[in-house]
Amino acid sequence: MRMIVVTPSKVGSFVLLEDNVVGNGNGLVHLIQKGSVQARTKDLQPIFFEWPKIKSRFLLALGRTGCQLKSLALVRTSGKGYFRPFPMTINASDTLTLFEEFVVPTYGRYDIVLVRGRGSRVWDEAGKEYLDFGAGIAVSALGHAHPRMIEALDRQARELIHTSNLYYTRPQGELAGQLVEIVGAPGKIFFSNSGAEANEAAIKLARKFGNECSGPLPDGKPRFEILTFHRSFHGRTMAGISATGQEKVKHGFEPLLPGFKHLPFNDLQAVENAISSETVGILIEPVQGEGGVYPATNEFLLGLRRICDQHGLLLMLDEIQCGLGRLGNWCGWKQIVNEGLVPDTISWAKGIGGGFPLGATWIRKTPVHSLTGGAMDLCDLLQPGTHGTTFGGTPLACATSLAVFKTIEQEGLIENARNQGDYAKRQLSVLPGIKEVRGMGLMLGIELGGEFAPLAADGKTPSHVAAVRSMRNGLLTVPAGPLVLRWLPPLNVSQAEIDEAVSILAKTLDEIQPR
Ligand SMILES: Cc1ncc(COP(=O)(O)O)c(C=O)c1O
Repeated sequence: MRMIVVTPSKVGSFVLLEDNVVGNGNGLVHLIQKGSVQARTKDLQPIFFEWPKIKSRFLLALGRTGCQLKSLALVRTSGKGYFRPFPMTINASDTLTLFEEFVVPTYGRYDIVLVRGRGSRVWDEAGKEYLDFGAGIAVSALGHAHPRMIEALDRQARELIHTSNLYYTRPQGELAGQLVEIVGAPGKIFFSNSGAEANEAAIKLARKFGNECSGPLPDGKPRFEILTFHRSFHGRTMAGISATGQEKVKHGFEPLLPGFKHLPFNDLQAVENAISSETVGILIEPVQGEGGVYPATNEFLLGLRRICDQHGLLLMLDEIQCGLGRLGNWCGWKQIVNEGLVPDTISWAKGIGGGFPLGATWIRKTPVHSLTGGAMDLCDLLQPGTHGTTFGGTPLACATSLAVFKTIEQEGLIENARNQGDYAKRQLSVLPGIKEVRGMGLMLGIELGGEFAPLAADGKTPSHVAAVRSMRNGLLTVPAGPLVLRWLPPLNVSQAEIDEAVSILAKTLDEIQPR
């Protein structure tokens, strides 16, 4: 256990020594200030600290009171009940202080500073090790610091990092070919940098299709409406939040982009009823991720294809989280449907670059009748000048992504995702406190039992409380909904790592279980 001793330079002075500290036996230290501390420091007490949060929280608290730190000494217990001091200086470069002061607070961050990763593990700046079962929210497909990714990054960076899309580059062409191959149906790729942008391209395509191919309505207006689903998540741009089926992402950003209608998930009848003469497409995550890990059913996906065919609509899959191997198949939807289903667009990001930012939108090669240009293919509808992005598909991003694809293939990681996912599901399903384990492959939603509901406090959900305690116990996970924890480990996670994670989760649930 460690504590901090502070000597501020102004606003009185306070010195916190051993007799100000009460350990609660849980790794937490309760600091109580002494008499020499002046009134302006009243914000400081009582504060619970846990290393490494202690120094940053202390700095923030001091910042609020107007104190400036001259020096800090860190004191640590030997574990035998006495404190052994060693000097340490904390200055303005303290990471959490930098964030507090300079970074827009759009994220509710966990209070650890990660500095290093290898495989399925990461380390914080205090040297504590964590099993990373969030993998950067389904991004680090090969885990951290995979040698083949490093080699590809290094090799391509020495050749050519960026040129813009004014020119041809080999890695972009090869990666497009690779993506079309895994879909198994003819199409073309538009490259971008993120999931929101991948969806944006699909949404713009649908608008163009509605404007130029599907015929004006009797009143002369084009078709433009896209159906999406409750609990869905499609990104944080204006189009992304308008498409998303969760109120919380929209609040305060009105007016939203018009033309999105949200329907109950897995309810074909609701879709049939919602189709109007304005409808132009249906956008769906085959497994909803942020919304709580809810898979679409086989019947639902096949039914959507049928409805799209009947009404001349685009079927647009958002595979940003569930695609590219995570469900145990290159194409997430193929892990769900039991017969051939060809979508009209597919959006990818996250795992596609193994951590290097990249987004991609597959567009089907299927004939459409442009009102202006006669017959053409859907994948050629976005002509020069209609859409673009400076960074989309740089040689560096594409060469790295190609290395990720090759490694997934050569190391058998799709099969590993399937096997380890099945194994994890079996182990998790029998843990006390778990109501249900949803999902497939390495995209698992662990729903906690209703007995954890009372943990909700101060705007924090029970899943957040569980994620924080799990982190303290050495396992990183991602909440998805009030009672759901998500496991999204690297695709090369081992069975031993799953066992370790299961036992940390079991310990965590036992610790936080309301009694
Ligand atoms: C299904 C889905 N779509 C879109 C996005 C947005 O991706 P990005 O954050 O890369 O813009 C996400 C991100 O979590 C997602 O899970």
